[in-house]
Amino acid sequence: MDRIKMVQEYVDGILQSSGNEIETKYGYKHLYGVSQACAILAMKRNENVELAVIAGLLHDIYTYEMHDSTDHAHKGSLLAKDILCSFGSFSSEEIDKISQAIYNHSDKTNIDTSFDEILKDADVLQHCLYNPLADVAEHEKDRFRRLKEELGLI
Ligand SMILES: [Fe+2]
Repeated sequence: MDRIKMVQEYVDGILQSSGNEIETKYGYKHLYGVSQACAILAMKRNENVELAVIAGLLHDIYTYEMHDSTDHAHKGSLLAKDILCSFGSFSSEEIDKISQAIYNHSDKTNIDTSFDEILKDADVLQHCLYNPLADVAEHEKDRFRRLKEELGLI
């Protein structure tokens, strides 16, 4: 089984055991939507697509596993580290890269590493494209405009 599929199965298990149909439904849309947006951006920016997809799948895992979104980026980076270690098929560099992107992903104001930025931008894309007719949140407007420019959409 490839590593993306391994992580997808882990995430599916967490989402399916939530006991809350709406949370499960939203979790699938958001985690898989961010993951796909990570793939597009990583391909466009010549970053590691596999690791970006996995970062997308795991970026909000704390919220869905613990049913608590408080400080979920920082707590989630530790949880993601444990999850990835438990698979036994990721190097410590790969685990650090993914967990750092998760740690920084809620900080949409600052610019971090090019890999970290993929996850932040993918998070914004999923929020904004889920319903393209809905208003864009104030704190996501600048990033969304830059992304539309980068992707040739405006
Ligand atoms: Fe998210």
